[in-house]
Amino acid sequence: MNASRQFTAAITSIHEIAPSWYLAGFSWPQDLAPPQPGQFFTYNPSLLPGAGKSLLRKPLAFAGFEDQCAYTIFQARGEGTKAFAQLEAGEKLDIIAPLGNSFPKCAEADKAFLVGGGIGLGPMLYLASDFSTNHFDFEVVLGFRAMAQVPDFSVCVKTTPIAAALQVIMKAASIATDDGSSGFKGTAIDLLEEKAFRFLSTPDFQGDSKKQLTKNHMHLFGCGPSPMLKALHDIAAQYQVPAHVSTEQWMACGVGACHGCVLPASGGGYVRVCADGPVFSSDAIDWGKCP
Ligand SMILES: Cc1cc2nc3c(=O)[nH]c(=O)nc-3n(C[C@H](O)[C@H](O)[C@H](O)COP(=O)(O)OP(=O)(O)OC[C@H]3O[C@@H](n4cnc5c(N)ncnc54)[C@H](O)[C@@H]3O)c2cc1C
Ligand code: FES
Repeated sequence: MNASRQFTAAITSIHEIAPSWYLAGFSWPQDLAPPQPGQFFTYNPSLLPGAGKSLLRKPLAFAGFEDQCAYTIFQARGEGTKAFAQLEAGEKLDIIAPLGNSFPKCAEADKAFLVGGGIGLGPMLYLASDFSTNHFDFEVVLGFRAMAQVPDFSVCVKTTPIAAALQVIMKAASIATDDGSSGFKGTAIDLLEEKAFRFLSTPDFQGDSKKQLTKNHMHLFGCGPSPMLKALHDIAAQYQVPAHVSTEQWMACGVGACHGCVLPASGGGYVRVCADGPVFSSDAIDWGKCP
């Protein structure tokens, strides 16, 4: 994994792409390897105007990298992320990056399904850009509460170089909303099952051929809230398909020292999201014991 370090970045662009959701870009050191899809950074909110002085560093995932700029998509929730959202181009951010592991290459699979919900949007869009660049076959399935939460990157295509590419991926993605106000009515996992596995219930795909087909041809990737990742794991287990998920947990140090970010491991004990993850094979986590 590429080495991480602390640096001062300059904000290059920041735009609201849905209510309280932001796409932000910041400068990346020339001599630091670019972040990979699945990796994250932490920033120090205490140094930002208007934020409390004793806040812990906040973790956010990468949503893209282009022209020596890294991008993130985040929701302004509490003091730390609201202070970030107030920044303007040219202002400074104290960063430690890149942190954590990244999604594995799935060379043996013919097709990937990328499933994102809520704060899982950024990593899935970054992985989709990577697959697109490498001509790997994939589909993106995204879940939102309602149409108003579906991000619109067209608002910043003139100022943010990566926005046009993100908008292309969004337009090709299958959208699910809880209330049915846009796309499929239901969760992202309901829609994934519809798109990826419904054909298996036809008479042509019964018995062993069913298992073989899904095992060799598909790989699932997910990022989002814990209940969504558990549902993704359940569906992967049901159809015997490999799945990797990027997990989230409250963090303190962000570098593996404090054990504040652990999740229960399926083999017993715990894994640290920041240092052992955040990406895990979905069967490595004991979802029944997750908070
Ligand atoms: C590896 C990793 C990657 C992440 N990537 C993204 C991302 O790309 N985009 C994004 O919007 N958010 C992401 N998050 C979540 C983000 O770190 C939290 O929303 C943020 O730290 C909240 O800080 P705050 O000071 O604004 O709010 P706080 O006042 O600290 O909390 C506000 C609310 O957010 C909840 N919260 C706080 N920390 C977390 C957390 N780590 N996970 C889940 N809920 C939390 C709190 O319970 C509370 O309800 C990621 C978290 C991790 C661990
Ligand atoms: S946040 Fe300290 S070990 Fe993960």
